[in-house]
Formats: sequence, C-alpha cells, structure tokens
Amino acid sequence: RVLDVLRKGLEDIAVKETSITYIDGKMGRLFYRGYSIFDLAELSSFEEVSFLLWKNKLPNIRELETFKKTMAEQREVPGQILEYLAKIDPSSNPMDVLRTTVSMMGTADRSDSDNFEKSIRLTSKIPTIITSFHRIRAGLSPVQPDSSLTHASNFLYMLTGQKPSEVEEKTMDVVLILHADHEMNASTFACLVIASTLSDIYSSVIGGISALKGPLHGAANSEALKMFLEIGSPDNVEEYVYKRLSRKERLMGFGHRIYKTYDPRALILRSYADKITSVKGNRNLYEIARKIEEIAVRSLGQKGIYPNVDFYSGLVFYSLGFSPEFFPTVFASSRVVGWTAQVMEYLNDNRLIRPKAIYVGDIEKSYVPIEDRS
Ligand code: CMC
Repeated sequence: RVLDVLRKGLEDIAVKETSITYIDGKMGRLFYRGYSIFDLAELSSFEEVSFLLWKNKLPNIRELETFKKTMAEQREVPGQILEYLAKIDPSSNPMDVLRTTVSMMGTADRSDSDNFEKSIRLTSKIPTIITSFHRIRAGLSPVQPDSSLTHASNFLYMLTGQKPSEVEEKTMDVVLILHADHEMNASTFACLVIASTLSDIYSSVIGGISALKGPLHGAANSEALKMFLEIGSPDNVEEYVYKRLSRKERLMGFGHRIYKTYDPRALILRSYADKITSVKGNRNLYEIARKIEEIAVRSLGQKGIYPNVDFYSGLVFYSLGFSPEFFPTVFASSRVVGWTAQVMEYLNDNRLIRPKAIYVGDIEKSYVPIEDRS
C-alpha cells in the first residue's frame, strides 16, 4: 500500500513534464523554451514570445509577420460584449468582468477551430475587453483597436486614446513578456485541472482568471501599489515596514514558493519602473518602493523572501495609465498565453487530475433521527 502523504499546497509535487518554462528558484533564473527571460525581455516582443511558447520555436521573419497580422485581425470583440460592458455596474471587479466576458466568448464560439486558434483569439481580444471597461468606468467611449500597431502599442492606445511613446510601448511589451508564463503556478494548475476532464479551453481560461484574482497570486500587484500610495513618502517607509512585519502581516509583492532569491522578473521590472517613473513624474513612488525593498530584504532575505514579479509590476502598470483594480486583468491578458500553452501541452498526454484527501473523520457512525438530536 502506498503511504498517504499530505503535501499542503502541493509543494514540490510535479503534475506534468514540460518543455515550456524552467524556473531555477535557487539562482533566480527563468527560461521560456530554453531562452533566458533577460534576453527575451531585451530583444524580443510579446508576439514573438507568444509564438515561442505556443509553437516551441522562435518564428522566422515571415512567420512572425503572418502571426502578428493574424493576432491584430482578431482584436475586435463581439458587439454583445461591448453592450454588456456598457450596462454592467461600473464598480464591478474587473477580474469578474473579464471572467464573464471570456465566458461569453466561449458561449458564442461554435467554430471548429483548434485550441491554438482559440488561444490567439483570446489573447488578441482580452486587451480590448479590459481597456473598453477601463474607459467606460471613467465615462469615456471605448477606442477601436488599430491593426497597424503592435500588441503592446495597441493595448496602450486603446487605454488612453493616444499612440504611446517608444519608452511606453517598450515598457508595456516587456511587462507582457514577463507575465506570459510561469510553470505550475496556482492559476495554471487550475486551468489544467479543468482541461484534464476534457472540458473546453475557454472553461480552462475562466478557471485561470478565477484563481489569478486572489491577493496571494495575481492581485498582489495592486496591493503593493496601494501600499506605496499609503506610505506616501520614503521617510515613512521604515516605520511602516517594521510595524507591518511586527504584526506578522505580509508585504505584498514579496516571497515566492519557488524563488528563494530575487525573482528575475522583479529585477527587470525594477529597471523599467525606474525609467517609466522618470518620464511620468511619479518618482516618489519609485523611491518608496526602493526603500521598502532595501529594508525588507535586510529583514526577510535570510528567510529567502525577496521581491517577486508583483512588487514593481503594479508601479509600472500605474505609470502606464492603468487603475490598480485593473492590474490583475493586465497580468491575465499576458498569462493567457501560458495557460493555453500549458493546457495544449498537457492534452498531448492527458490524464484526469484527481488527487486525494486524507480522511481524518470517523466512519460507521449510527444515523441519529432528527428528533433525537441535541
Ligand atoms: N511578507 C512577510 N513574510 C512572508 C511573506 C511576505 N510577503 N511571504 C512569506 N512570508 C513568510 C511567512 O509568514 C512564513 O513565515 P513563518 O515560517 O515564520 O510562518 C514563511 O515566509 C513561509 O510562508 P508561506 O506562506 O508558507 O510560503 P508560501 O510558499 O506558501 O507562499 C506566497 C508564497 C507568494 C503566497 C507568499 O510569499 C505571500 O503571501 N506573499 C505575498 C503575496 C504575493 O506577493 N503574492 C505574489 C506571488 S508571485 C506572483 C504570482 O504568483 O502571482
């Protein structure tokens, strides 16, 4: 008999073999399909990385051009989704709205397209949904996608109505590249559980969005930014951090199940946060973040707790014009590539995911009629 083993949080349990993403949590290294995240962030684009994750190769010039065109052609969303966005309570949580609209897309998709085509559709349309709701909430009309722009540039164009500057476009592109996949995180695992029952890819993505919504996963970015805003000045950082840690409260954007050193994405984002806050004039928030990092690494570093991707990403999203409630949706807009890539890889060798629980209650109890119960 196999011994019952309880691994809370499924720590160190592998659910599949993968050739998509490799994380070296000890050394703080991350690779997509074998390519270092540092090279991809500097040299690549979100479209190229999406192709790489889905197709397991870097596209050549012709493949990339065709792929970019296909993605750009898919940006418009059905009118029924825009009508829904215009009607819904504007104070609704944007992740709930994203979940519902992806569900609407799934309901409407009766095509016999394969999962790759559906994944492109989802990835291309999600920014249109996010920015339309962002603008409607602010009392503005949605901006039609512009198919002559790159994915990152069009995303910002639909958000602000202005073509972004070079530094804004590059920053957005990098932030999307960095969020595209991260091996077996909670939301990806949720997608796989759903896919393993041979449900459809939209249902898997809805599961991913639902899992990403929580503050321990994709919403830590907005919590981190709120913390910077609440602190208000670098002079208040020391007192705030020590108070918070002495009350055993977690610092959002710190700590990771796999990384026991700096998350490389945090290092890359720190340099982009540095650049974008200089341009946008919210330097104060960057200085607050740097000071938190310095103090918290001093106190938590020996426990292996360092900044993760969410520590600087919120500041970057904010500087690009996104409101904090929307940060997890921007994360989702990129992670949808990883969710779908991991689902497609899993389905090549599917087995129903069905773990077990260790029963600790009684059995063989006598049923008590209701009138005899205390
Ligand atoms: N601030 C202070 N202490 C922390 C933090 C933190 N952010 N994270 C972990 N710890 C401590 C925790 O209190 C515990 O201490 P002790 O052993 O003394 O009780 C120890 O570290 C281990 O914590 P854990 O919860 O068992 O670790 P985990 O691997 O289950 O948690 C985590 C990983 C990401 C949930 C956790 O680090 C956390 O809550 N961080 C804050 C939220 C956050 O930034 N989430 C984003 C994660 S990265 C991007 C993503 O996946 O979306």
